[in-house]
Amino acid sequence: MSIDIIKFDKSIPKHIAVIMDGNGRWAKKQGLVARLKGHEAGAETIRAVLRACDKTGVRYLTLYAFSTENWKRSKSEVAGLMELLRRFLIKNTDELIEKGIRLRAIGQIDRLPDQTRKELERSIEKSKNETKLDLILALSYGGRTEIVNCIRRISSIVKSGELNPEDISEETVKQNLYAPDVPDPELLIRTSGEMRISNFLLWQISYSEIYVTEILWPDFRENDFYEAIADYQKRLRRFGGV
Ligand code: IPE
Ligand code: IPE
Ligand code: MG
Repeated sequence: MSIDIIKFDKSIPKHIAVIMDGNGRWAKKQGLVARLKGHEAGAETIRAVLRACDKTGVRYLTLYAFSTENWKRSKSEVAGLMELLRRFLIKNTDELIEKGIRLRAIGQIDRLPDQTRKELERSIEKSKNETKLDLILALSYGGRTEIVNCIRRISSIVKSGELNPEDISEETVKQNLYAPDVPDPELLIRTSGEMRISNFLLWQISYSEIYVTEILWPDFRENDFYEAIADYQKRLRRFGGV
């Protein structure tokens, strides 16, 4: 099995969103006590998925890296994840730029520890002119928080008198989300078998095709990504029609 399973004369998703789950279980399976070892292995998978996006022409990739709920984890796991992200950015930003990848982030970026946030802002700024692929990291991201922020923004526009409540449309909502220019994901992938959304992109996935694989994120490879796309290509997207 390889990239050949994808039909290039059929539609390739423009935007794929991924819930990268199963790092902890992977570490446990390897007999590793530290969950962080799983997160480290998971960071390598990101590189493989970026290669697959490059070969297939996916234009936007959103990765759920840390949720608003993940702050509940132990102090050491949270700190380890934040440090891992900082190191990932230091190690990979130049290569991302070489490959035409623009790094972006959605979520409560101001909640990230200073050093991680600064590195993130540096990478975002450095890669801002790249146009081949947008790599969007969801960090301290929650779909409900995004919608609450959106409501606040729209309310203040209404309050200023610039907008009538009856003129609020789906487009108004879209324009006030974290990344208004990004089209909705056609395909949502979740690894490690859990059949839930876990507060990811609630507004944007209303018509996304969902693909769940049992494979744990650190074991997920380029070919698994192709398999998800090939599966998507077999779906009949009705959008409520017949
Ligand atoms: C996903 O892996 C990574 C994050 C949520 C940060 P988990 O850490 O949730 O791994 P499991 O679900 O415990 O296996
Ligand atoms: C979802 O995974 C969040 C990320 C992948 C960043 P979780 O492991 O946090 O989700 P639950 O707790 O199983 O719903
Ligand atoms: Mg999990």
